[in-house]
Amino acid sequence: MIRKSTKVTKSTVMPTTLILLSCLLLATLIAHEAESSSVCPDSCGSTNIQYPFGIGSEGCFRKGFEISCNNGVPMLASTTRPVPVNFLSIITAEARVMLPVAWQCYDSDNNIYALNDGDVHFNSEEVYRISNTHNQLIVIGCNTLGYTQSQRSEGNGYPYAYYTGCMSFCNNSHSAVDGACAGVGCCHVDIPPGLTNNNMAFEHYNHTTRVDYAPCDYAFLVDRNSYTFRTRDLKMDNNTMMPVWLDWAIRDNLTCAEAKKVQSYACVSANSECHDSSNGPGYVCNCTMGYQGNPYIIGGCTDINECQQKEYPCRGICRNTLGSYECKCRSGFHSPDPFNIPCNPNFPLAARIVTGAIGGLFIIAIVVFIILLGKEKRRMKEFFRKNGGPIIEKVNKIKLFKKEELERILKTSNRIGQGGFGEVYMGYIRDEIRPVAVKKPMIDVKLANQFANEVIIQSRVLHKNIVNLIGCCLEVDVPILVYEYVSNGSLDKILHDRNKMPLDLDLRLKIAAQSAKGLAYMHSEITTPILHGDVKPANILLDEDFMPKISDFGTSRMITIEEHYTSTIIGNWGYMDPEYVLTGLYTSKSDVYSFGVVLLELITRKKVLDPDINDLLGNSHDTYTKKKRVIELVDPEISAKGTIGSLHSLAEIIVQCLNLDADLRPEMADIAERLHYLLK
Ligand SMILES: *[C@@H]1O[C@H](CO)[C@@H](O)[C@H](O)[C@H]1NC(C)=O
Ligand SMILES: *[C@@H]1O[C@H](CO)[C@@H](O)[C@H](O)[C@H]1NC(C)=O
Ligand SMILES: *[C@@H]1O[C@H](CO)[C@@H](O)[C@H](O)[C@H]1NC(C)=O
Ligand SMILES: *[C@@H]1O[C@H](CO)[C@@H](O)[C@H](O)[C@H]1NC(C)=O
Ligand SMILES: *[C@@H]1O[C@H](CO)[C@@H](O)[C@H](O)[C@H]1NC(C)=O
Repeated sequence: MIRKSTKVTKSTVMPTTLILLSCLLLATLIAHEAESSSVCPDSCGSTNIQYPFGIGSEGCFRKGFEISCNNGVPMLASTTRPVPVNFLSIITAEARVMLPVAWQCYDSDNNIYALNDGDVHFNSEEVYRISNTHNQLIVIGCNTLGYTQSQRSEGNGYPYAYYTGCMSFCNNSHSAVDGACAGVGCCHVDIPPGLTNNNMAFEHYNHTTRVDYAPCDYAFLVDRNSYTFRTRDLKMDNNTMMPVWLDWAIRDNLTCAEAKKVQSYACVSANSECHDSSNGPGYVCNCTMGYQGNPYIIGGCTDINECQQKEYPCRGICRNTLGSYECKCRSGFHSPDPFNIPCNPNFPLAARIVTGAIGGLFIIAIVVFIILLGKEKRRMKEFFRKNGGPIIEKVNKIKLFKKEELERILKTSNRIGQGGFGEVYMGYIRDEIRPVAVKKPMIDVKLANQFANEVIIQSRVLHKNIVNLIGCCLEVDVPILVYEYVSNGSLDKILHDRNKMPLDLDLRLKIAAQSAKGLAYMHSEITTPILHGDVKPANILLDEDFMPKISDFGTSRMITIEEHYTSTIIGNWGYMDPEYVLTGLYTSKSDVYSFGVVLLELITRKKVLDPDINDLLGNSHDTYTKKKRVIELVDPEISAKGTIGSLHSLAEIIVQCLNLDADLRPEMADIAERLHYLLK
């Protein structure tokens, strides 16, 4: 083909030739490549042969690593005598081969008649070093110095770089003993690293007297663990071979650091690494941790599935990862070191039972709490309904307080009053500036009804002389009432307190007139009149300006046709209308009678139980005598000259109010008007 192309014109010859040549070259390369990958046997007998070692054509092995296969026995190639290989490792970079024993035999005249220096040229490319760690040199003979000479070298005055050996001697034919290789018939010596060949030599000493029991000298390298001296070896077969460990490496004269930069770098697999050789120059390759295989071929190092291999411990759940593996306890278990220590449950059974029990109790407690809370809520709702909540709710004027809002006020330190009805506390609701009086009744069903009554009645009245009900709380057994706070206490207290404060007639008239106004309002100024039912000084409160405010509507009645007949006596003895006591019929005139008693108490400053007052009320004096008696009893503090007229008028009103015939008593509105007139 090439020749043919030369016949073409010169100008085209060169490029065409070049192209053809290139094609040829490429084809050869491809063919070679294909051949090497398909033809290279990967084993010989039972021995696995891996790159850089190889059998066959040139591409199958790296230079110096050729193996020949002889009837199923691998041999180091290119040796002068066959060198069998019985172990080959890519991982440890070692080979175990059989090397010949070197020998030298003497005749009875002390002449050397045959010898073998053992050299087999197994290491033409110097990829091997004789392992100094695994091997030793043995010399056998009865008058000899045997030594190995190794690694050709120049410049030191000798042909080799290493000379290592030992001397062996026998005093007579019985001197050597089995098992002892210590200079009698046999000697041994460690070897240095760096030995490259199996070349031995002997010093020639006089053997004349020893030829019969030790005709030859022997020297050989051998696996430290594989040879024990026997006296019969003084006459051993001169074809004997000994096992020897070789360290091999990529001997490019390069260290790892240098080798990585060149194309011939041998550690071609991913996840491989380079180690400088420990015996001789060069380097070896290894798969990195967690990978295994052949680092000298592309893709040779593969991940180790540690979970399937016993030498990677895991007492928990094993999970393989690239280059490594994870070992964890399954959830709910733990171990300080799951790789070596078995996993234990996080909570031992006992702990789980205890936790469960505690959790159970806790849940039961919560359920009970919720049930109780619901019960309490229902109770509060029930009270609310029972206490007239639905009706009271519609009354805009009354505020409905929550139980918690009032609980802050209901403390002993806030208590300002106490009596048969219950307790009264003073305090502030939320952030209000004006104080309130909170009336907390005793738990008594009868009284409870009274309080509800009071709420309903109070909700209908709004007058400056009637104490103002701000709101109530119905979420309790008996409703709690919240009133405006009236600072000066009751008229009863003002009149009869131990340190009697001076009260002039004008003030007394004002109190009388304003109280009358309040009552008159209740009797006649609202659509459904209300009877107070318990008019007495204790129920007339005075504010800071001594403005009276009627309070306590617990016994009040709304007047309807039949409702003012009461089966139980209400009100307070002394202030009570005698006619009502007789008939059981409570009317507005009953309030008027009581008010008359209040007026009497107001101007006399004597208690209703005072004998004088009692006498005045008890006996049915005629009007004139009664009035005269009233004037006599007037508090000296107000009976001055200028007041006599007013006192007479007051006495007149009182007597009219106290008339035993209810029909003859004036109306409350009338009394209010007359008192108002008197005040002017
Ligand atoms: C050395 O050999 C000679 C001759 O056989 C003998 O007489 C002598 O006792 C031997 N010496 C020792 C220490 O064995
Ligand atoms: C070797 O030893 C024998 C006996 O001891 C002696 O006769 C002979 O001359 C020696 N030979 C040499 C070469 O020295
Ligand atoms: C050792 O081998 C050689 C041939 O290489 C032979 O001539 C000689 O007799 C042998 N010697 C012994 C002691 O076996
Ligand atoms: C190694 O280096 C020596 C000198 O340093 C050289 O003679 C030898 O050829 C080199 N061998 C290789 C395989 O490069
Ligand atoms: C390569 O790895 C194997 C296994 O991990 C180890 O036994 C060997 O010593 C390593 N070789 C070198 C040269 O580090």
